[in-house]
Amino acid sequence: MSLLQKGVLIFGSTLLFGKWLSSVRFVFSGADLISEAAEKAGEAPFAIPALAEYQVLVTSKEGIRELTECDEGRLSFHKAMEDRLLHKHTMFGFQHNDIDPHDSIPNRVLKVKLRTHLPHLEGKMQEMIGEVFEEELGRKPIADGWSSVSAFYLAKIMTGRINNLILFGEDLARDQEFAEAAMRYSHDVVITMEICRQLPSFCVPIVAPLMMGWSGAMKKVARFLTPLVERRLQRPNCIKWVIDSCHTPRQRTVTRIVQQMIALLMASAHQMPMALFYAIFSLCIYPEYIAPLCAEIAQNFNADAEDSCKNLPLLDSFLRESARLNPLDALSIQRKALIPFTFLNGSHVPAGNLVAVPQQTLMRNYQLYTDADRFDGFRFVRPRNADEEAEIRFTDVKWEFPYWGSTRKAW
Ligand code: HEM
Repeated sequence: MSLLQKGVLIFGSTLLFGKWLSSVRFVFSGADLISEAAEKAGEAPFAIPALAEYQVLVTSKEGIRELTECDEGRLSFHKAMEDRLLHKHTMFGFQHNDIDPHDSIPNRVLKVKLRTHLPHLEGKMQEMIGEVFEEELGRKPIADGWSSVSAFYLAKIMTGRINNLILFGEDLARDQEFAEAAMRYSHDVVITMEICRQLPSFCVPIVAPLMMGWSGAMKKVARFLTPLVERRLQRPNCIKWVIDSCHTPRQRTVTRIVQQMIALLMASAHQMPMALFYAIFSLCIYPEYIAPLCAEIAQNFNADAEDSCKNLPLLDSFLRESARLNPLDALSIQRKALIPFTFLNGSHVPAGNLVAVPQQTLMRNYQLYTDADRFDGFRFVRPRNADEEAEIRFTDVKWEFPYWGSTRKAW
């Protein structure tokens, strides 16, 4: 441990080999590494070396507020994502650039169009979830009506089919060959980005295309999407909404739209199956929640209502608690310092380094959550007479719950 300039403690070696070792350790036990460091640093920002940068981690309310409010020109979300996801290689050449500098297309598609159409898509989504259960549970019957299936695989198939329905429409969602290519594509991205993070940057333009090209899945996905974009079908799915949201000739090219769709596929592919898997897992570990949750759903779920899950506070709380104890990434609100950045408390981050929030540390902090390491499925349910405080919902974004990212960005 040593002191970086102006008030940021570094946990790990600052020599090249030591940084590489720290980078590899981060992949396998990032959460442990972070919690050891956080305990020693207290409320102050601290840094964990990676191969190409320092990861400066912030846990105080004030620090997170500054990180959230800082503009893209100083602490950049896109540059941080580019370094990690290697868009150019992993998203069929998609780049965040002057074609859509303010993300107006994905913003409009996800925040406006999808939200408006979601109630109409719910029936079809439920139908598909039923189909997946039947298909997958029917494959390996054991005895007495029981079947065996991997929970993670089931979560992947289920969320994959729903994502494909919403992004590309019913025909592709039911196409087995496309479903396999889409699933393999997202697997290729994860492996490629994790391996490339451990390599010197000059290797990445050679290794990343080789790894992404090995299975051919990304190109296959693009081959399926290209004719749909060319035909510009008027179906209620994200392809149509992306096309409708394009306002300039460069936004409207078939290649750019296919790239944008592949970027959306990538953005939606990983978190959903993991979140679902952890929820199923939590139900298995704590079966005492099954009966009250089923009773609540039987009583209050209203498929015809605009927000069919509005009156399900127990379910909402259970999902939030499952998410709190099982965050999907070690870091949230990741930003790259494009110019030197100094926090109000004087902690200084030189340009080129990553600033982020270690979400597990925060969501298991005993000062923020009573008995923080314990699973309490109904932790977020408010007693009926406490109506001056609004109900906390699974999707609420708060600084002490950075699961959905920053209050500025979360969808
Ligand atoms: C359990 C599910 C999900 C979780 C936990 C999750 C979490 C996150 C987080 C933490 C960020 C970074 C925000 C920040 O740094 O401030 C993010 C960004 C993003 N997510 Fe998700 N996400 C989920 C599902 C999805 C889905 C289904 C889509 C649909 C395509 C999606 C699209 C995006 C996009 C486009 C961004 C970039 C935001 C921007 O540029 O402003 N996410 N998400």
